[in-house]
Amino acid sequence: MNFVVEPSALKSDTLSVPGDKSISHRALMLGSIAVGRTRIHGFLAGEDCLATLTALRTMGVSIEQPAAAEVIVDGVGKHGLRAPEVPLHMGNSGTAMRLFAGMLAGQAFSAELLGDESLSSRPMDRVIKPLKMMGAEIHSNDGNPPLQIKGRQLSSVLYRSPVASAQVKSAILLAGLYANGEVTVVEPAITRDHTERMLRSMGVELGIGESQVIMRGGQDLAGVDVRIPADLSSAAFVILATLLATDAEVKITGVGVNPSRTGVLDILQAMGADISLDNAQYYSEEPVADLTVRSSKLHGIDIDPDKVSLAIDEFPVLFVAAACAEGRTTFTGIGELRVKESDRIATMAEGLKVLGVAVDESPDGAVIHGSKFSGGSVRSHGDHRIAMAFAAGATIARMPVYIEGTDAVNTSFPGFVACLKSLGVNITEQQGSPSAAQL
Ligand code: S3P
Repeated sequence: MNFVVEPSALKSDTLSVPGDKSISHRALMLGSIAVGRTRIHGFLAGEDCLATLTALRTMGVSIEQPAAAEVIVDGVGKHGLRAPEVPLHMGNSGTAMRLFAGMLAGQAFSAELLGDESLSSRPMDRVIKPLKMMGAEIHSNDGNPPLQIKGRQLSSVLYRSPVASAQVKSAILLAGLYANGEVTVVEPAITRDHTERMLRSMGVELGIGESQVIMRGGQDLAGVDVRIPADLSSAAFVILATLLATDAEVKITGVGVNPSRTGVLDILQAMGADISLDNAQYYSEEPVADLTVRSSKLHGIDIDPDKVSLAIDEFPVLFVAAACAEGRTTFTGIGELRVKESDRIATMAEGLKVLGVAVDESPDGAVIHGSKFSGGSVRSHGDHRIAMAFAAGATIARMPVYIEGTDAVNTSFPGFVACLKSLGVNITEQQGSPSAAQL
């Protein structure tokens, strides 16, 4: 599938976006190995989380989905998973592969984890190394998927992670639930803490310091009710389209504003964005607010490298914001983007250049010179967030923008096209290659 987006005037509105992807994965996984029932409200029924759901069912967990966003998990307890008789498919999801690697390393059985083409080229050594330090036996394709995990008795670890990665931290904590002794993870920068919050809500005791988590191994979990906030990473595309528009005001309700995720709001506000938060409350253990966004004149800035891990999934949005801002925006310390669903520095630079924007790329950064989008055909490289960022930016292009390869949007934001249409965006889905006129 492909998107065609025509220049559009945005309407003011109040809307919501689907549930948080990171928290949906964790609710399924932790709920499955908890004792008792976990009811999940606001679940993201996107392809990534559905792959996690299927994998857990394959291991014998009874999971009902009475409605798309409502899930009931009957936890089997830490030692109740069954050996899977077939490989477990993680689809496009790095989170699923890395968290399952941790969760399965201490089981009494073996399992194989597979991924799609994009996931199969992403680095898994970042979780294999600390898990092996704990006694795990994991075989990979030279550090890439597929992973063969042979369950072993795990032991304590103190791991100083060289990468700021919530997935690495979470894999070690999940493995730690099966370990003798204490696990400690020290991170080079703060990363999302959804695992820690949910573990605590399920009765697990954790010691949490600045960039450090300590957990006594072997603790049990109890099922809980989980209410999942709307995903700020999905809201970010609506925020971007609204900011770029001429005169719109859009309110997005019930959005997760966990401080380990809100870097995108801080960075956009530093660029001149008018975004305000109200109706602050908690959904389960996660802070939530309504966001009101008003069209704003953005200007270029030097992005604070300390904000990178707090906005790690929003750089496609920030690249487009920078491209449409007045002046120059400098990104540094963003090398991790090269190992996301695509090489996001390269794919964004390629597409922006097609649309007439000057980009200077470096191994772990970029300088973007703000201008106005022309039109043309850009490639998503199968990356959901690249496709959606270009779609939001295309609303203010001078000519139609054709975005190739948009199927992956369903991994994180089912209903994206309908959401943009409801705001007045002229977006259509088209199969096949672009016509000569669209190129
Ligand atoms: C995620 C962590 C981040 C993020 C990903 C989701 C998670 O990855 O990019 O989309 O749910 O833990 P890293 O841990 O690799 O930074």
